[in-house]
Amino acid sequence: MRRLAIVGNWKLYTTPASARSLALEIREAFVGFKDVDIGVCPPATSLQVVAEVLRGSNVAWGAQNAHWAQEGAFTGEVSAAALKELGCTYVILGHSERRHVFGETDEMVGKRLSFVMHSGLVPILCVGETEQERSEGKTEAALAQQLQVASRGLDGPPDIVAYEPVWAIGTGRRAELADMEAAHRFIRERLVERFENKAKEVRVLYGGSVKPENVAELAASGEMDGALVGGASLSAASFRSIIARALERRRL
Ligand code: 13P
Repeated sequence: MRRLAIVGNWKLYTTPASARSLALEIREAFVGFKDVDIGVCPPATSLQVVAEVLRGSNVAWGAQNAHWAQEGAFTGEVSAAALKELGCTYVILGHSERRHVFGETDEMVGKRLSFVMHSGLVPILCVGETEQERSEGKTEAALAQQLQVASRGLDGPPDIVAYEPVWAIGTGRRAELADMEAAHRFIRERLVERFENKAKEVRVLYGGSVKPENVAELAASGEMDGALVGGASLSAASFRSIIARALERRRL
């Protein structure tokens, strides 16, 4: 079984001061946890303070995006080199909000992914269908396209892929178990087609309205290697409860 990974995406919540308080609570909440990779991805402006708090704990940290160049005239972007210096482990890439609110294309996501992997950071490549694609029966086509373009320039697969159906993000409408399993299976098949055996180790996480009360059903599935959690990762108590319940189900 692949090792469970559960990562919190704090999105544009927290300032350095509130991120510090939340990171302190999270550090305490996970003392003694094992058999799981835990991470949090605060806004870039809170990374330094979160790194200071979490260094030496069993919670890693990461960013919500990274640029495809080492440096240059790219106003508003964040470099992989800076993230490495801040001790980041993870970088979320191609998140639905980047794609749909800020217009990032599959090609842009692919360039970011390639650079992040060469930089030695652990990418979390997000893919997912919109409500319209789903209702038109185009979920698999959407996933295949996002995966194919994003992995064009790669020699090996990304370490982590997160399946985040766009309609399930922040809506309280989690994907049904069978739909999640079908999507995860499809993602792994595409990765195996492209990267052969190397794809067997890729962890496929689910994201979209994961809460303490609905994580157990997902975690019992052999298709789920973890979760990318938005809203419920902004409270140490609910984030802890998600991870504790997921671990419990995996051990049964
Ligand atoms: P919610 O858990 O708030 O639905 O957000 C999911 C997400 O976008 C994680 O990246």
